[in-house]
Amino acid sequence: MAAAAIALYRSSIGKKAVMAITGIIGYGFVIMHMVGNLKMFEGRDGFNHYAEFLRTVGEPAVPERTLLWIIRIVLLVAVTAHVTAAIQLTRQGVAGRPTGYRVKRRVQANFASLTLRWGGLALVLFLIYHLAHFTFGVAHHDFVRADPYHNVVSAFSNPAIVGVYLIAVAALAMHLFHGVWSMFQTLGLNRPSTDRLWRGLAVISALGLFAGFATVPLSVLGGLIR
Ligand code: HEM
Repeated sequence: MAAAAIALYRSSIGKKAVMAITGIIGYGFVIMHMVGNLKMFEGRDGFNHYAEFLRTVGEPAVPERTLLWIIRIVLLVAVTAHVTAAIQLTRQGVAGRPTGYRVKRRVQANFASLTLRWGGLALVLFLIYHLAHFTFGVAHHDFVRADPYHNVVSAFSNPAIVGVYLIAVAALAMHLFHGVWSMFQTLGLNRPSTDRLWRGLAVISALGLFAGFATVPLSVLGGLIR
């Protein structure tokens, strides 16, 4: 069983399957996080109560933060496996070709994979900054540990920080759009008859995700949330 799983992982299709499964886990988290962020519109009590719920969910059956840590570990493993498989697939693509390309063609198909790689790297860097900013507070100028509402409002009063977050969520939306699209290609689901439909749905969900994330920083900057 284990040997079969390792043999499958060695093949490029096995790595792509790992990328798809871990990508779907990440996508699920991102949607839940976006919806959770919108609770900023419920005010300080609503948002902080929600953050408190995330810390204490499962109590008293399990100690505080148990489920939170399970989610964190699943996410960390998923992101690590996603990045590792991506690097290995890239290397395989190069290693499998002894002479290399005579002419480097960056045509349309390559555009998606290039933006996936560089966008993916940018997202990892953003995630490190984001955790230092809102979770650990070391990159925040006025961090109050048990008051995430205050942390979000005081951070987004600065247009430069709003700019960083808008760029990051735009990169995320593009990454998810291209990621879902390449998954469809791997699964062979793209056909001329349904391409327009899938593409339309992928564009709408990426724009929805961008709008959902962008609303909170922009509303703080515009004075709607204070
Ligand atoms: C406007 C956009 C965003 C806002 C306002 C925001 C806000 C927050 C806040 C306030 C926390 C800390 C919660 C707490 O400790 O109580 C947090 C944690 C986190 N955010 Fe975001 N976030 C945004 C975008 C993103 C994006 C795009 C990602 C992923 C690509 C992301 C991933 C995470 C992760 C992994 C955590 C740590 C969760 C944990 O382990 O406690 N966030 N976010």
